[in-house]
Amino acid sequence: MGVDLTDRVRELKEKRKAVILAHNYQRGEVQDVADFAGDSLELARKARETDAQVILFCGVHFMAEMAAIINPQRTVLMPDPNAGCPMADMVTVRGLRELKAKHPDAAVICYVNSSAATKAQSDVCCTSANAVRIMASFEPGREIIFVPDKSLGAWAAEKLGRDNVILWEGFCPTHHRILARDIRERKAEHPNAKVAVHPECTEEVRALADEVASTSGILRFACENTASEVIMGTEIGMLHRIRKECPDVALYAASQLADCPNMKLNTLEKMVWSLEDMEHEVSVDPAVAEGAKRAIERMLEITP
Ligand code: 13P
Ligand code: SF4
Repeated sequence: MGVDLTDRVRELKEKRKAVILAHNYQRGEVQDVADFAGDSLELARKARETDAQVILFCGVHFMAEMAAIINPQRTVLMPDPNAGCPMADMVTVRGLRELKAKHPDAAVICYVNSSAATKAQSDVCCTSANAVRIMASFEPGREIIFVPDKSLGAWAAEKLGRDNVILWEGFCPTHHRILARDIRERKAEHPNAKVAVHPECTEEVRALADEVASTSGILRFACENTASEVIMGTEIGMLHRIRKECPDVALYAASQLADCPNMKLNTLEKMVWSLEDMEHEVSVDPAVAEGAKRAIERMLEITP
């Protein structure tokens, strides 16, 4: 019989004095062996407070990079360094600088799904869990540049009734695969179900939802919902997390196409290799890290 990979990850975790953090979209077996699974804000908080020597970060690059920035004393490893986020790559520092030059008085809010260099050009970061509160922290008359997710930025602006938010044209290719037609079809199949979607979804999809929330917000909505049927409009890795936490809820994915290939690059095998060889360490240029840290810390001050 071969070695059980989960046992091997656990053994190596002890040996390396590591903590394993996993995003809610990770493969089920990766989430199950992790010390903590959560949304990006929860993971950032965990990364900041841990005293483990090593953080094995199972998510995508910007999340691991953020852990390395806010807790530079730790060694942050990624099982697969190719796990990026296409949305994070949709904004360039040069483009953002040009936009800032056109709107010199605007505040810049940067979704954490971005590079450290983009964060360093921003006043404050946000995640999907706190975007509305972060935007509300700027006086209503102040112009805001929101990068890179136009869907999240538009949703937060809509919730606050702000018409002075300049949206960068970025989007999540995975969430934009969920169509309004998918929601209508699932609702026709399950007329009593409530619909919970991520704010990275398109405006048409959000308009059909009962709840728009971060990944952990969707989990809470599903678990607390008295209607025990929920249509879930986010990446399908969330199915595992919700089914595990609240098995009584009848859960339907809005679309099976919402499968983020980057999130799925991390596997148990790669976690073993990473801890065995202490490889794929995430490092950030200290000059860039300093600016990025300021924007992340400001976010954590507003929403501790
Ligand atoms: P959450 O912060 O809601 O976990 O979302 C992260 C993400 O990448 C969604 O696509
Ligand atoms: Fe990036 Fe979208 Fe994947 Fe989240 S689901 S990591 S935003 S591509």
